[in-house]
Amino acid sequence: AISSVHAREIIDSRGNPTVEVDVVLADGTRGRAAVPSGASTGTREAVELRDGDPGRYHGKGVRRAVEAVNTEIAAALKGHDATDQAGADRVLIELDGTADKSRLGANATLGVSLALVRAAAGSAGQPLYRYLGGADATLLPMPLMNIVNGGAHADNPLDFQEFMIVPVGAGTFAEAVRMGSEVFHALRGALRAAGQNTNVGDEGGFAPDLRTAEEALTFVTEAIAATGYRPGADVAIALDPAASEFYQGGRYLHRDPGEHVAYLAGLVDAFPIVSIEDGVAQDDHAGWVALTRAIGGRCQLVGDDVFCTNEALLRQGIADGVGNAILIKVNQIGTLTETLATVGTARAAGYRVVMSHRSGETEDTTIADLAVATGCGQIKTGSLSRSDRTAKYNQLIRIEEELGERATLDPYLRVRV
Ligand code: PGA
Ligand code: ZN
Repeated sequence: AISSVHAREIIDSRGNPTVEVDVVLADGTRGRAAVPSGASTGTREAVELRDGDPGRYHGKGVRRAVEAVNTEIAAALKGHDATDQAGADRVLIELDGTADKSRLGANATLGVSLALVRAAAGSAGQPLYRYLGGADATLLPMPLMNIVNGGAHADNPLDFQEFMIVPVGAGTFAEAVRMGSEVFHALRGALRAAGQNTNVGDEGGFAPDLRTAEEALTFVTEAIAATGYRPGADVAIALDPAASEFYQGGRYLHRDPGEHVAYLAGLVDAFPIVSIEDGVAQDDHAGWVALTRAIGGRCQLVGDDVFCTNEALLRQGIADGVGNAILIKVNQIGTLTETLATVGTARAAGYRVVMSHRSGETEDTTIADLAVATGCGQIKTGSLSRSDRTAKYNQLIRIEEELGERATLDPYLRVRV
């Protein structure tokens, strides 16, 4: 049973405050979780409660969310059966009482929800991935590694937010990390040779002064080849344009929606791209349907802002033919139980599932375990630099080692190329 729930204000990878929660059980086991935070957030995400007090952290303090955990939530959950995650999450949802968790804050509810499952797993003497996924949880996710940052994650001119490499030719997760690291360093060398800076953005990818997606894609493709890998066959590319960020007045900068869809299709023809996330904006419903019709048969199309890890939004999207995959971000919805329900709905509909970090992260590695527990098949958690990103990859290396011969790396994107 839950004996105490305690939250504190810590800082994330951007130096902004966030919520960390400790749940302690009657047997003395402690579970701890820290909450991530996005920069290019979807409009229908659950609400991240910030204090708005300009005297602290430029208004970004999370004392109200911390206070909600330490008073109302702690009182409501004291004595609750730690193995009843769904029941505890229901208590959080009902206590909050809003559709978007704006009263207590999704940062409060998520911290508690994840700390609880960590405590329960610890109490059961099991690693989190096995506690949640059972003995059959042996599928490691293919990593989508973000090695060029733009958009809201860097101060360079690139409109597209993320250029990721996907080591589809890897046989194991550890090999995928090695291949990713090798390409990352080859890219650094190529950027330097071209007189570009090699500073990194929020997710640890380079943030060079490039103007167009084609230039970035050319650098990445050449870095793959320079490392000795076949672009597409060994290491493929994934994009997250995060198009909601540059959709204004019904246009994508200098293109209308039809031209923009054709432009993306052209990029898929010209470069070894196997996945595009948020290629069009969250409010451009017709654009999503058009993009899915145009290239959904030959490219994974991942909905992030358009679904917000929200089961109802996903169901609507499935019915309408929006994309063929979903990005899963635990803080977009605010409890573990709702996250797992959305994953289940996606898979039942044949949608692919990509577990994801946020651009603001901490040392917390829960999403690595969730990717294996759900067997979702893919994870995106940034570049091959910065500990907030590599912590997740390193945790997956450990899980793969622990699973030994039983571990397999998801082959889906490999088969497609
Ligand atoms: P965010 O970016 O965490 O800043 O929202 C990640 C993404 O858009 O996938
Ligand atoms: Zn995204």
